[in-house]
Amino acid sequence: MMLVSLSSLILLSVLSVQCFFIPPWYCDESGKLLYEEIGCTPIKGFRNCVTSYNCSNYRLPKQGCLFEKHVYKDGEAINDTNPCHNCTCVGNAKNGSKIECHNVKYTGPFFPLIFGYGGPPSDCYLSYELNKCYPSKLKCPPYKDMSICVVDSKVYIEGEKFQPYGKCLDCVCQKGYNGTFVEPFCRKNRCDVEVRYSKQIVDNCAPLYNNNYPLCCPYDFICPSNSKIEHLVKQNSTHHVEKCKFGTQTFNKFDRMDLVYGNNITANCVCSLPPLLTCRN
Ligand SMILES: *[C@@H]1O[C@H](CO)[C@@H](O)[C@H](O)[C@H]1NC(C)=O
Ligand SMILES: *[C@@H]1O[C@H](CO)[C@@H](O)[C@H](O)[C@H]1NC(C)=O
Ligand SMILES: *[C@@H]1O[C@H](CO)[C@@H](O)[C@H](O)[C@H]1NC(C)=O
Ligand SMILES: *[C@@H]1O[C@H](CO)[C@@H](O)[C@H](O)[C@H]1NC(C)=O
Ligand SMILES: *[C@@H]1O[C@H](CO)[C@@H](O)[C@H](O)[C@H]1NC(C)=O
Ligand SMILES: *[C@@H]1O[C@H](CO)[C@@H](O)[C@H](O)[C@H]1NC(C)=O
Ligand SMILES: *[C@@H]1O[C@H](CO)[C@@H](O)[C@H](O)[C@H]1NC(C)=O
Repeated sequence: MMLVSLSSLILLSVLSVQCFFIPPWYCDESGKLLYEEIGCTPIKGFRNCVTSYNCSNYRLPKQGCLFEKHVYKDGEAINDTNPCHNCTCVGNAKNGSKIECHNVKYTGPFFPLIFGYGGPPSDCYLSYELNKCYPSKLKCPPYKDMSICVVDSKVYIEGEKFQPYGKCLDCVCQKGYNGTFVEPFCRKNRCDVEVRYSKQIVDNCAPLYNNNYPLCCPYDFICPSNSKIEHLVKQNSTHHVEKCKFGTQTFNKFDRMDLVYGNNITANCVCSLPPLLTCRN
């Protein structure tokens, strides 16, 4: 009797906890990051999930560089890029402007540890900060008041990086971590797509992602000029007003196709989050 009531109590509490904490609906965030970076306006649909973006205001300036909605002048340093990139708008009236970046060099004392000549001394570890490219401290015992973070059933220690499942976030475990994926603990992945791909974006090329979940930063773009469409499957989705553009061609939401590009490489593409196609391979 005692056992039965105890187990039903546990069952009940498990059920109620789950009912309480499972969100009523989960929006797939795949492919959002690109649009957020370039400042498109989200259009929400069923259950308030984003179904497409309005990028009609996205235009490149005649002179200067566009990065995250701000136009930088020739010679100006670009703010708020990925902390591992150091970028400048370079150009002149004759040749136009473009963003040039180089990787930030490491000048600190842990060079051999970071670049792989043997790991940190035993029991020690390199501690990161959220907006820095490289670790800033070597932490060794005795550890006093060390914070830990439990995320997706894994344990991280203070200064350790983590990526929450299903989210395009960079996070660092820190003191005061309260389970929320906000600054100073987490920030969005910085793809810096405009550093390399602003021309491809205005030309309605298709972002290409690694086939991971979720899709965070595209690693390339496929353009109509250097690809061909195969196995097009048109969706009867006359009830969706949103369309994807690929160059000058238009596709309905959920139309699928293969794009064959480069040296006979195939990407699977779908009009899942207009106005660009979403490709993966
Ligand atoms: C997109 O945004 C522009 C400018 O803000 C607006 O004029 C246009 O109506 C919007 N288009 C859609 C489909 O919402
Ligand atoms: C970039 O950073 C500089 C120096 O901190 C600041 O003066 C400038 O306003 C920033 N520009 C933008 C667009 O945030
Ligand atoms: C424009 O680019 C060309 C070729 O890259 C270069 O030779 C020329 O010096 C550039 N013009 C200016 C004004 O920088
Ligand atoms: C970025 O590059 C500029 C000039 O190329 C340099 O003055 C600056 O120190 C660099 N910043 C970082 C963080 O490397
Ligand atoms: C968690 O910490 C962040 C950053 O300090 C704070 O903004 C947020 O309100 C906290 N949330 C809760 C639920 O405590
Ligand atoms: C698409 O749906 C419409 C309305 O539901 C229907 O009239 C039409 O025949 C369908 N077209 C195809 C190709 O299935
Ligand atoms: C491209 O690859 C496909 C399948 O991998 C193959 O069937 C086809 O013959 C290849 N075409 C060319 C031109 O190499």
